Amino acid sequence: MRLLVTGGAGFIGSNFIRWYLAEHPHDQVINVDLLTYAGNLENLRDVEKNPAYSFVRADINDRRAMREVFGRGVDAVINFAAESHVDRSIESPQAFITTNVHGTLTLLSLALEYGVKRFLQVSTDEVYGSLEPEENPFTEESPLVPSSPYAASKAGADLLAGAFYRTYGLPVVITRCTNNYGPYQFPEKLIPLMIINALEDRPLPVYGDGRQVRDWIFVTDHCRALAAVLRRGRPGEIYNIGGDCERTNLTVVREILKILGKPETLIRFVEDRPGHDRRYALQNTKIKNLGWRPQVAFAAGLAHTVRWYRENREWWQRVTSGAYREYYRRMYGRRLEGKTGD
Ligand code: NAD
Ligand code: TYD
Repeated sequence: MRLLVTGGAGFIGSNFIRWYLAEHPHDQVINVDLLTYAGNLENLRDVEKNPAYSFVRADINDRRAMREVFGRGVDAVINFAAESHVDRSIESPQAFITTNVHGTLTLLSLALEYGVKRFLQVSTDEVYGSLEPEENPFTEESPLVPSSPYAASKAGADLLAGAFYRTYGLPVVITRCTNNYGPYQFPEKLIPLMIINALEDRPLPVYGDGRQVRDWIFVTDHCRALAAVLRRGRPGEIYNIGGDCERTNLTVVREILKILGKPETLIRFVEDRPGHDRRYALQNTKIKNLGWRPQVAFAAGLAHTVRWYRENREWWQRVTSGAYREYYRRMYGRRLEGKTGD
């Protein structure tokens, strides 16, 4: 099979490509990535010489460039390419609509034109909005009530993907996964940000009361679920992918400090994120019926992740040099004012 992976230089995409090439050595993978601030070819150093792998730097919105890629012959598409960070979407939503909505539309229409046999749209549980503590986890039938511009853009892409199945018969499958963690995650997201701040004895900015709940999944468990849906999912269907692992943010942050042997005095409660979703949780029955289960327990996955950041200081020091500093000041400077000796 020749698989087009978009956004393969990002966190989940690069983990997916590494895992997929190891598991399916006879398949070909074409990675298309624009290399935004979140895309980094260093994430794929160990596969770049593999003859089954090739890379094209392109915007998924660039129809001409994408046409060339589809023209090589593509059996299946897995669309990871996205602007993916909620806080950035609150600051400036436009890029989220451009990439996540328009970009997905471009890919869907080319996939149709070139007769692609499977289109997997990688989506998120955030399209369902927020759950109260006593509510049942979201199912694939739950209504879409996205809170952030990021979540709204992903919901828009899901609706387009569903429309391409129903209107044109494009064999689309949609997955909605919960919060991933693991190696190569850009340190703007909770877990890597807290790990690198703790490693540097900088304050750990916890939004609001820190009692928001996320369901955590180790990135390779997500990769295995995607491969199961790619091969065995039914066209037109949606599959939730949850980790069966609900934790408050505060619990996660404390766990990181414990692993690193750092004091809880590093925690700073800061101004909350606007429209902050209280809780995410997913019912997993449908994906489990494809024979998938999460395999990595949270304690083991988190310890592995902390070790990776500890051992790959050069990686995160490089990705946090330059523009990241400006981002960090903008996002956290005022929030941490007067709350830190940093
Ligand atoms: P990421 O931000 O780490 O990576 C996104 C990648 O897309 C980057 O390599 C970036 O360069 C590339 N990209 C951005 N705009 C592009 C464009 N216009 N054309 C081509 N490439 C472009 O994101 P991630 O955390 O790896 O998430 C991957 C996908 O999984 C996203 O679609 C996201 O919505 C979804 N998802 C993420 C999570 C999570 O916890 N991280 C959970 C559920 C779903
Ligand atoms: P994040 O990793 O941005 O993922 P998402 O918003 O997509 O769930 O955030 C996870 C949780 O951690 C979310 O409730 C917001 C919170 N958070 C903080 O408390 N402080 C931070 O600095 C960040 C980045 C997130």
